[in-house]
Amino acid sequence: MVRLPRGVSVKFEHANGELRAEIDRDQVMQVLTNLVNNAIDAMPNGGTLTLRTAADDRNIRIQVADTGTGIPPENRKKVFEPFFTTKGAGKGTGLGLSVTYGIVKMHHGDIKLESNADPAGGPTGTTFTVTLPRAPRPGGDEARRS
Ligand SMILES: Nc1ncnc2c1ncn2[C@@H]1O[C@H](COP(=O)(O)OP(=O)(O)OP(=O)(O)O)[C@@H](O)[C@H]1O
Ligand SMILES: [Mg+2]
Repeated sequence: MVRLPRGVSVKFEHANGELRAEIDRDQVMQVLTNLVNNAIDAMPNGGTLTLRTAADDRNIRIQVADTGTGIPPENRKKVFEPFFTTKGAGKGTGLGLSVTYGIVKMHHGDIKLESNADPAGGPTGTTFTVTLPRAPRPGGDEARRS
């Protein structure tokens, strides 16, 4: 669904085992599309996009990481606000992450970011982590209890 520009390479790092969450497929696809498009926009000179999955007992985690410009500290709180954009007129609406946030919250999940925008502090880039509650295993303890 996303056009990958020349110079951007993609890595997949998937956790072993079956990670199941109850999701609205279209909505979560929209979340991933938004995060991937942002990651690509942040790497105008190329870089690496990494899609990672992981889980603990309660949650599954999906990470979208880029080696792009990073998000300066003063913007980190604002990026989830509707209409906040640093992209030029006619380019970004600033709605991507606010819609993303809403969808994740509807799924009883959470979204967090880690970023470095200062080359003096090491490689720049941003990682968004989406956490979603793990679906009970069929026949598992949770399923039996309910
Ligand atoms: N991976 C990222 N790297 C650097 N900055 C980012 C990243 N993701 C989001 N941002 C910053 O957060 C702002 C808001 O992102 P958001 O997705 O909500 O809107 P947008 O991408 O500007 O526009 P739209 O998604 O509506 O086309 C961006 O303009 C950018 O400044
Ligand atoms: Mg966006």
